[in-house]
Amino acid sequence: MIGDIPYEIVGGNLRRDDLVALLSLGGDEIERLFEKAMEVRKKYVGDKVHMRGLIELSNTCAKNCYYCGIRAGNKEVSRYFLEDDQVFHAAEFAYKNGFGSLAIQSGERSDREFIDKIEYLITEIGKRTNNSLGITLSCGEQTEETYRRWFDAGAHRYLLRIESSSQELYHRIHPRNAKHDFNNRLKSLEMLKKIGYQVGTGVMIGLPHQTAEHLADDILFYKRMDVDMIGMGPYIPHIQTPMWHDRGLLNSDKERFELGLKMIAVTRILLKDVNIASTTALETLSEKGRLKGILAGANIIMPNITPPVFAKSYKLYENKPISDGNVIPALEKLHADLKDNGLSLAFNSWGDSKHYFERNLKN
Ligand code: 5AD
Ligand code: SF4
Repeated sequence: MIGDIPYEIVGGNLRRDDLVALLSLGGDEIERLFEKAMEVRKKYVGDKVHMRGLIELSNTCAKNCYYCGIRAGNKEVSRYFLEDDQVFHAAEFAYKNGFGSLAIQSGERSDREFIDKIEYLITEIGKRTNNSLGITLSCGEQTEETYRRWFDAGAHRYLLRIESSSQELYHRIHPRNAKHDFNNRLKSLEMLKKIGYQVGTGVMIGLPHQTAEHLADDILFYKRMDVDMIGMGPYIPHIQTPMWHDRGLLNSDKERFELGLKMIAVTRILLKDVNIASTTALETLSEKGRLKGILAGANIIMPNITPPVFAKSYKLYENKPISDGNVIPALEKLHADLKDNGLSLAFNSWGDSKHYFERNLKN
């Protein structure tokens, strides 16, 4: 048994109530949940952890999400856009060090200059790295034409978090206007799938007013949308955002961290063969948080390879860890920790989502 649920059922056909129960586990039962998630992870995606070198391209954003430190309304942020050479340098670093993949993330813009720039950067990275790096984009909601252009240029994965699959909760954390339209976000996810991307989504965990039922529904949403990748992490308040004022409603950092790990584990158990990232927000709330995320069932990490002077301006929430530029020694440490747990880092491999290929076989 894990909690009140027989062990054989966990891993089988979990219903909403079961998901809620698993997300509400405490004490020693949590370790049993993580063990089960590890078992599922090994069976379906193996014992490797894949890397995506994370490039935070620009912190300029046209949107105003209530939780995010780089929202357009925050006038305290010094805005940047990496120079082309800085991007190529980071990409070459990832290439030379066998990272296998890149993730390019940016605040959301939809002007022509931005769209052209992303297309150019993807094309040029391909040329400079022998088309040998997988490329994930995370540049928000765009038109189908834009998504298609970026896909044709060489991006083949796209991460667009739904943030919360509950429309009601979504509206609490975003302005109610055309720029922050829940249905448009859903439409974007559908477009990305239609074009042929490996598609990822995710939510923030531990938001004010969020319940275990909301989170169970988020996992069922992942399942229903048949996504290939999940990127999710605990919500962490940022002082220059409207939601800072609601911080009194939050559970402790420790509780939100633990809930983040349980979300990873339960998502792994239900979705099985998807890629799940162990995100920076976990590392922010706990020492070795990224490792703990992997041991709860995640199989992807995103080492930040943005030049540190800029990474400190890509501040979505308080206490975001900034690497001192010594990415490799940190990875060596992680690799050793992984080995102690029967896992290891994968080098020179894209680490595509197994689910994507299964999904395409079926269709
Ligand atoms: N806490 C945690 N995650 C955040 N994000 C933005 N702001 C915060 C925050 N305060 C996440 C969102 C977004 C991604 C880029 O970062 O989920 O999709
Ligand atoms: Fe912009 Fe993304 Fe932050 Fe929203 S979460 S304000 S879209 S960077």
